[in-house]
Amino acid sequence: RKEYGSIPWYPTPLGGKDAAWKESYSKAQGMVELMTLVEKVNVTTGTGWQMGLCVGNTGPAELAGFPSLCLQDGPLGLRYAQNITAFPAGITTGATWNRELMRERGLAMGLEARLKGVNVILGPSMGPLGMMPAGGRNWESFGSDPVLQAVAAAETIQGIQRNGVMATAKHFVMNEQEHFRQPFEWGIPTALSSNIDDRTLHEVFVWPFAESVRADVASVMCAYQQVNNSHSCENSKLLNGILKDELGFQGFVQSDWLAQRSGVQSALSGLDMSMPGDGLRWADGDPLWGPHLTRAVLNESVPVSRINDMVTRIVAAWFHFRQDHWHRPPPESDGGPNFSSWTKERVGGLHPGSPDDLTKEVVNHFVDAQGSGSRAHSVVARKVAAEGTVLLKNDNDTLPFSRDVSKPDGKYRIGIYGEDAGPGKGPNACPDRGCNQGTLASGWGSGAVDFPYLVTPWDALRSAWSAETVDVQGYLTNGVAVEDVTEQDLCVVFANSDGGEGFIKNDGIDGDRNDLFLQRNGIALIERVARHCGGGRGKTVVVVHSIGPVVLDPWIDLPGVHAVVYANLPGQESGNALADVLFGDVDASGRLPYTIGHSLEDYGPGAQVLYETGDPVPQVNFEQGLYIDYRYFDHYNITPRYEFGFGLSYTTFDFSSLKLQPIQDKSRLPGPRPEDAANPPSYDENPGNPSDSIVPHGFKLLGKYIYPYLLSHSGTKPGSYPYPEGYKKKQKPSEAGGGPGGNPSLYEAMLELSVNVTNTGTRPGKEVVQIYVSFPDHVLEHRGFGWAREEIDFPDRVLRNFSKIELNPGETRTVNMTLSRKDLSYWSVRAQNWIMPTDGKFRIWAGKSSRDLPLVAEF
Ligand code: NOJ
Repeated sequence: RKEYGSIPWYPTPLGGKDAAWKESYSKAQGMVELMTLVEKVNVTTGTGWQMGLCVGNTGPAELAGFPSLCLQDGPLGLRYAQNITAFPAGITTGATWNRELMRERGLAMGLEARLKGVNVILGPSMGPLGMMPAGGRNWESFGSDPVLQAVAAAETIQGIQRNGVMATAKHFVMNEQEHFRQPFEWGIPTALSSNIDDRTLHEVFVWPFAESVRADVASVMCAYQQVNNSHSCENSKLLNGILKDELGFQGFVQSDWLAQRSGVQSALSGLDMSMPGDGLRWADGDPLWGPHLTRAVLNESVPVSRINDMVTRIVAAWFHFRQDHWHRPPPESDGGPNFSSWTKERVGGLHPGSPDDLTKEVVNHFVDAQGSGSRAHSVVARKVAAEGTVLLKNDNDTLPFSRDVSKPDGKYRIGIYGEDAGPGKGPNACPDRGCNQGTLASGWGSGAVDFPYLVTPWDALRSAWSAETVDVQGYLTNGVAVEDVTEQDLCVVFANSDGGEGFIKNDGIDGDRNDLFLQRNGIALIERVARHCGGGRGKTVVVVHSIGPVVLDPWIDLPGVHAVVYANLPGQESGNALADVLFGDVDASGRLPYTIGHSLEDYGPGAQVLYETGDPVPQVNFEQGLYIDYRYFDHYNITPRYEFGFGLSYTTFDFSSLKLQPIQDKSRLPGPRPEDAANPPSYDENPGNPSDSIVPHGFKLLGKYIYPYLLSHSGTKPGSYPYPEGYKKKQKPSEAGGGPGGNPSLYEAMLELSVNVTNTGTRPGKEVVQIYVSFPDHVLEHRGFGWAREEIDFPDRVLRNFSKIELNPGETRTVNMTLSRKDLSYWSVRAQNWIMPTDGKFRIWAGKSSRDLPLVAEF
């Protein structure tokens, strides 16, 4: 089944060619030289599911001085840990469009991980990118556009890593739906294949990973599913070719949990770390690496240079983030995690996954990682949640509310409606937030955390108005009686839409949503409240919590619906942040990180989740190519309900005088690929004596624990083993590579631009200046002999930069931004490089959303 195939790309480029990593690699070399083969293998292979305190644990190389590493989810905070912060989700963070806040959130996440002794955070997520609006895990990432994802990912990574904790860019790549993502949960023989053309792969899906590499990310997690019919964790084109050669990635590639599907093939294709270490089935204790990797190196089916590169990449990353200093104080994180993922008690097992290890010790030290005072992480969590709240509709200036509203003839009556406003059975009622009850503040799955607390909307609103003049009643159910609505002056009604990672099924939702509607009778609730509020004369304000876009059509135009607030997934500070926006203590400054259509079909045939298949290798062809989300709506002239980038503010802004200042002349190609800035370490190529890899005499092996040792010499003799197809053909380095994230010339500024923004309203507020680019209509493509005019399709407009600013009433500011060569280039499949059209003119648009672009200039 190879309608879409993936080309072979070998061998794995060695780490250590980048100037910024030179010192880390030379330190790593010194340490790796001290390691035996089994120690090297130990560093590359997880110890098995629940064979350590974290969701992923590697083996140490003790004599060389390299510790076991703790890898812990996830993208919005520390999973399975106490005294941590439940930050707003990625999608909420994307909706802030605020770079500083993205960074601050990352800083706080990194600090929490550091205090808990976590070496590697399994986040941020930038894939799924949001190709499918119903996709179950889009909320872990930042929004359905490569540039928005890229900026948010880079800021998050830099924030996390500033504290010396390694970040993981995941999931590489195109894990766009949960259904059939891997065989073991979905009862199919093989994971689905996400099929994509080379240009879209580069321009859309890989783009945020390129920016993550530029942001110096330590690790990349390969995804569960296949890409072009080759598993992501053994796809040599993706890992060796794109990630390690073209993007110049210096860190290590870890597999998603059981995403590794082969031993030798994955090693040769560029995988560096097997997680959690088990083999094809969960907790089977039967690894693909471990002893098999030891044997494969001895029998020469995996070159010694490859295992050396794997371990050097891991050790270099550890030095790069100065984790060699972790063995010194503070004592709470002295060389290891001070919490257990597997128990909330103080005492627990070190290897609860093994039937043989029944010893217990203190595993939870309950270190408070939440910060305090003005540095409490709840402060940044609240800011992100508030700025990630998008005001979609606000007729007659219904919002912001006034706290001391009154009525001449008695109390002003307010009703708060819906289970989504209230506590339900508490935020942690179901493991990994795998049920939809009470207010929705997170999606479900490995990307969720245990909430330390959750301020519900009801908590925050019940006493928010002056008690002397206002009577506030809560009806925290979706089955509200009409008579509880008719007497109110104001009704605030809550509803939601939930989903998450595919290992949890809830309410008939197998991870991916089945549709884009509100759930749990939310639509009927809103209709009822909106029709009957105040006997038809009251005002209704709707608040939506959701993992992604919701079709609003059934109710948004009802006359009673005066305002709609889209609060995304706000995390633990939900109610406080919502009140901040509802009462105008902060401006409504969130902007949609995706398009809200009139229907799921609006997003295009390629944007639909494949829910059913009889195919042993389900094929998902991303035939919409570059046309995802707003690009599809624009291209096919589909009017969205609310477009990508849209959001109201409590004030108004005027944009004027867009000016372009070219920095460089246009030229078709980036500069030549620069020479490598450093030499990778070189080692003795002798794998050592097989006898040294045999399990030491008298060593007690724990059942199911993954060791690197061999039990016998069997299979260690070098033989003529088959190498993968295309292995012998050594690939040439890509012209698009040569620096972090690609050829440095791609990231040079081509253009500076400035635009004036004035706050023309009466309140202080924040605006997001969004820059979109339209490419020239025709470009010259090289066709073997000479030049031929060939039309290349371009989306009408693509987001290329943005900046959020705060302005007082009447204030004007000039906002400056740049566009790089890459921003103004397309990926030429023929040239295998980024090409800037030099014929014709670019149009550079500035404005408030993907459809509200009052200013345009040509370049
Ligand atoms: C599987 C998920 O896909 C991944 O995101 C997560 O980091 C691992 N499980 C570990 O929990």
